[in-house]
Amino acid sequence: MERLSTGIPEIDRMLAGGVPKGFLVAVVGEPGCGKTIFSMHFISAGLRRGEKAVFVTTEESRESIIRQAEMFNLGFGDAVKKGQLIIIDALLKPREDPFSIYTLDPEELVKKIIEAKKRLGYGHMRLVIDSMSAFWLDKPAMARKYSYYIKKILYQWNFTVIATSQYAISTSEAFGFGIEHVADGIIRFRRVIKEGVLKRYIIVEKMRQTPHDLYMYEIEIRDGVGLIVKRKTRYRREDITLPQSVTEKVKEALKKKRGEIPS
Ligand SMILES: Nc1ncnc2c1ncn2[C@@H]1O[C@H](COP(=O)(O)OP(=O)(O)OP(=O)(O)O)[C@@H](O)[C@H]1O
Ligand SMILES: [Mg+2]
Repeated sequence: MERLSTGIPEIDRMLAGGVPKGFLVAVVGEPGCGKTIFSMHFISAGLRRGEKAVFVTTEESRESIIRQAEMFNLGFGDAVKKGQLIIIDALLKPREDPFSIYTLDPEELVKKIIEAKKRLGYGHMRLVIDSMSAFWLDKPAMARKYSYYIKKILYQWNFTVIATSQYAISTSEAFGFGIEHVADGIIRFRRVIKEGVLKRYIIVEKMRQTPHDLYMYEIEIRDGVGLIVKRKTRYRREDITLPQSVTEKVKEALKKKRGEIPS
């Protein structure tokens, strides 16, 4: 099986070599915990090998993405200029920009991604959708259906996909749930304030066909460098999964919601 480097050696090791080619991996977590920066490393690892790539941004403008990536020397500015990377902007929607999305509609998203792919050329490509949950913010009951649709189409177009998803389980809105079941893998970011200091963590929760690491690792976002893995914690996957009773309650709430909103 061919695996793609994430651009972060320690995370590649956690994934038994990297992300399996052709997979759709969900990168989930709270705001500011490193999802976008991780996705940038993944794209940059492809660019370094001369690959072409597509990055969809819904939370920040194209310019903001380029600036952030440049802080870590990930080569986004250059790649865009050379026509090696297309950043699809779903936020600022500049007029006459061929790679902007005007509505957060999954069909429009897929159409635009395919247009970008045709522009860049054929063959395998890395794709980031940051964030995927933006496409069903106003209709969370559609999350699973949309995720399935996007995965199915993109699979035919020879992409390996990182799709980010923010969610707040505490609100029981469960934005991320659609993508988690459909995704081939789940990488979860977490953040905690310990003794007055913000700490960030990463754990691989799911990766099909992969004997992945089950431990949680502390990470750091370092200026000029980017995301680095600092140390292994003593926590394992089962220590941080929700208790059964909570999971059941969330499932119930979701079912109710599905019933209320006809698809
Ligand atoms: N140059 C830098 N040096 C150090 N840390 C930085 C630098 N740039 C950004 N950061 C850190 O990275 C964080 C943003 O990370 P990132 O954008 O990946 O979060 P995210 O998980 O995508 O959040 P959201 O869900 O809100 O999009 C900032 O809040 C900041 O703490
Ligand atoms: Mg982000």
